[in-house]
Amino acid sequence: MALTIGVVTETAPGETRVALVPEVLKKLIAADARVVIQAGAGLKARLPDSDFDGAEIVADGAAVLAAADLLFKVQPPTVEELAALKDDAVVVGFLQPHRQQEMIEKLCERRMTSLAMELVPRISRAQSMDALSSQAAVAGYKAVLIGAAALDKFMPMLTTAAGTIRPAQALVIGAGVAGLQAIATARRLGAVVEGFDVRSATKEQVESLGAKFVDTGVSAEGEGGYARELTDEEQAKQKAVLDDHIAKADLVISTAAVPGKPAPRIIDKAGVERMKPGAVIVDLGAESGGNCELTEAGKTIEHQGVVIIGPENLSATVSRHASEMYARNLLNLMQPALVDGELKIDWEDEVFAGTVLTRDGEICHAPTRAALRGADDD
Ligand code: NAI
Repeated sequence: MALTIGVVTETAPGETRVALVPEVLKKLIAADARVVIQAGAGLKARLPDSDFDGAEIVADGAAVLAAADLLFKVQPPTVEELAALKDDAVVVGFLQPHRQQEMIEKLCERRMTSLAMELVPRISRAQSMDALSSQAAVAGYKAVLIGAAALDKFMPMLTTAAGTIRPAQALVIGAGVAGLQAIATARRLGAVVEGFDVRSATKEQVESLGAKFVDTGVSAEGEGGYARELTDEEQAKQKAVLDDHIAKADLVISTAAVPGKPAPRIIDKAGVERMKPGAVIVDLGAESGGNCELTEAGKTIEHQGVVIIGPENLSATVSRHASEMYARNLLNLMQPALVDGELKIDWEDEVFAGTVLTRDGEICHAPTRAALRGADDD
């Protein structure tokens, strides 16, 4: 019998994305998979059931789970969803390994195979599977739109009969995937943009987007293309330069992150108090503690006239395109394993070997294993 791929409605609060879009469905069917989708799974991304031509639409989510050999998810499955799956089902999605202890224990108990999209190795070959990147790009774009909407100024320079309007000054902190997209978006809206990162490789990328690079003299390249945490001395050096740029900015978009750590604290209360009234901070680090000391996740606050926005799950606010990109990432990851209508994962392949979270009752991802089992034997 053909491999059955299941897709259910995402139930996490605020989640609007769906793990499958019609274009990807066609490719799965062409790879001889049977696809079963819960009725209404795409509705929040404005994808009605009728768009999923060729899939079986089933009213009951539990029936989808019971049928699935491979479950496509955006958010981690709930414990109830896991209970409804077959023991030999494979789950793939953003599984949030650092937060989902109960789910991981259940996956191990059931000896289920799970693949975490966060763990896709950051190698050239895996770029098309990199959902962290695709969703970060969405968030970086949307952060600028939210920030622009909250400003009491224009973004572009305007020459009008009522005089000339100066362009807004935007500062983007962290020039990874989200930050670079934020820079590009702020430039398209006509702001004068500065960008900053602790990885020196980003200078050229920032400049190629037409922004000025803020050089603090601190360089902190870590492993795998990521940044490492700064020492206290480096933090002080960075702060001394950056605070002046923050004070001058109308819009600050902060995206700084270090994998597996709380968001680096870059803007403190005193820094906010030096900003101009009406200035806006959009803090993409909100969900992991905030790049700004005053950020409150999921809220917009105002401190001495400075608006601080701490959005959560911004990618879900661009549900249609975020779903499209995410579903393509899933397809690109899983396609090599869809062979003759069966799931044949090559565990020697560094992409699958890196992405697997649990298998055969074991936690395969060493940092998660160390966090939950207390020992890292790698
Ligand atoms: P991220 O979301 O972990 O971090 C965002 C940015 O914050 C990074 O650029 C980081 O350098 C910066 N940052 C960390 N601490 C900071 C501090 N104290 N001050 C200022 N900035 C700070 O990173 P993201 O965007 O997921 O990826 C970072 C890099 O990883 C990419 O630019 C690229 O080099 C590499 N990458 C490689 C891929 C591949 O080859 N498949 C795919 C995606 C990313």
